[in-house]
Amino acid sequence: MKRQWGWGALGALGLGFLAVRVSGKLRPKPMPVKIEQFFLTNPLRVSYFGYRDALRLAGDLKGLRVLEVGVGVGVILEEIAKRVGENGQAFGVDVQSDAVAKAEKRLSQGGLMSRTGLATANALDMPWTDQSMDVVVMVAMLGEIPSTHRVDALQEAKRVLHDGGKLVITEFWPDPHFISLSKMVGLLRRAGFGIVDIHQKPLLYSISAKKDGQS
Ligand SMILES: C[S@@+](CC[C@H](N)C(=O)[O-])C[C@H]1O[C@@H](n2cnc3c(N)ncnc32)[C@H](O)[C@@H]1O
Repeated sequence: MKRQWGWGALGALGLGFLAVRVSGKLRPKPMPVKIEQFFLTNPLRVSYFGYRDALRLAGDLKGLRVLEVGVGVGVILEEIAKRVGENGQAFGVDVQSDAVAKAEKRLSQGGLMSRTGLATANALDMPWTDQSMDVVVMVAMLGEIPSTHRVDALQEAKRVLHDGGKLVITEFWPDPHFISLSKMVGLLRRAGFGIVDIHQKPLLYSISAKKDGQS
């Protein structure tokens, strides 16, 4: 009897995951902030899917202007702000104002707001001028944008990157909006990026790219 319950619970969990994954694929949309807060700040995520892998391909950020698109509650942005140091600047944007508020609280508590600029805006139309960033980072965010607009979002990242600037994207499974590496390579090429480097480990990959002709 106990065994049957165990299989039942496992089956329900599997079905639940499948439903979330299918709905994430069919109707991509930003994850509600309460769910984000739970998933993005739990120790498993922070240690396995956290900033070490996300920022591995970004290189030394000291003194640079670094933008994270889709900051969520600010887990990755906090590390970016530490790494840019006193002479650099960290920027973050998210379409959900309550995510931005939580990210602001997190960075304020860490004493990092003096080197940080946050905005509530869409990744398709960001409030920064052309060629104003050295590095743009996207972690588990592109899949939340409808598939017809993903290349546009990458082109908007390209617009704010200065010549020679770097885009770093990280995706991990089982994020319901996960984009496979082969699809991501295709999207980046369509947006006019050349692939520079790829880092992979089980359930996660990170890819860095530069404006075409600069890879
Ligand atoms: C899964 S969370 C990841 C947060 C953060 N990058 C991290 O890894 O901790 C994705 C975030 O992207 C944001 N997002 C989704 N679509 C967006 C868009 N069109 N413009 C800006 N942000 C967006 C969501 O609101 C959400 O906070």
